[in-house]
Amino acid sequence: MIRLGVNIDHVATLRNARGGNHPDPLTVAKSLVGSGMDGITIHLREDRRHIRDADAEAICAWAGKPVNFEMAATTEMVAIATRLKPHGCCIVPERRAEITTEGGLDVANHRESLRPAIARLKDAGIRVSLFVDPEPDQIHAAAEVGAQVVELHTGAYANGKLGELERLTEGARLAESVGLECHAGHGLTFANVTPIAALPEVAELNIGHYLIGEALLIGLPSAIAEMKRLMIEARTR
Ligand code: PXP
Repeated sequence: MIRLGVNIDHVATLRNARGGNHPDPLTVAKSLVGSGMDGITIHLREDRRHIRDADAEAICAWAGKPVNFEMAATTEMVAIATRLKPHGCCIVPERRAEITTEGGLDVANHRESLRPAIARLKDAGIRVSLFVDPEPDQIHAAAEVGAQVVELHTGAYANGKLGELERLTEGARLAESVGLECHAGHGLTFANVTPIAALPEVAELNIGHYLIGEALLIGLPSAIAEMKRLMIEARTR
């Protein structure tokens, strides 16, 4: 059944706005067990603008749910990830030069720098995902550099770009056909999640901003439960 990874970076954003300890991302993560959340996603950015090293350490040590650790493919981040050993790492672009026109990681033009980073993560027993646009070149390149998963960037789809659902549909099929597990995420909401969750190749969605925003209205566990209900409904109808 399709899984929901909940990105709690914005819990840290809120905490950092006051510089104290509240709300604490680990406490929030623990409170969400049983809500329909299948995994926790955190992004330790190079500038530490939301999640910090101590958060990443505490959340990976807890491991009450599989942790999806988003990171840039830098020496520093690979060292942190191989030490913390999350369930999975999703390599994302943080510098303009690493980004394709639409916003995903430009795997095709960074094969030589990605290959050793991916190998080190896999050697540590971490499943490696690459966050890419639904472009055939990028998906083929992801398989070629040794990733086990691609996360297809749904941002352009969420922004209403014409033809994007078709590109994601083809991208998900291609990912599966080259042996990659397919995930998707970015900009997904109650209103736009159904066509993406309905794609049979998509094993996991990673969703953050909308859930945290919706939490202000209905609470985070209810927002997660409703998102999961929509995902399962999309899959079973
Ligand atoms: N997947 C990846 C790789 C991301 O970087 C993000 C944003 O942090 C998301 C999913 C979640 O996107 P959103 O916060 O728009 O739901």
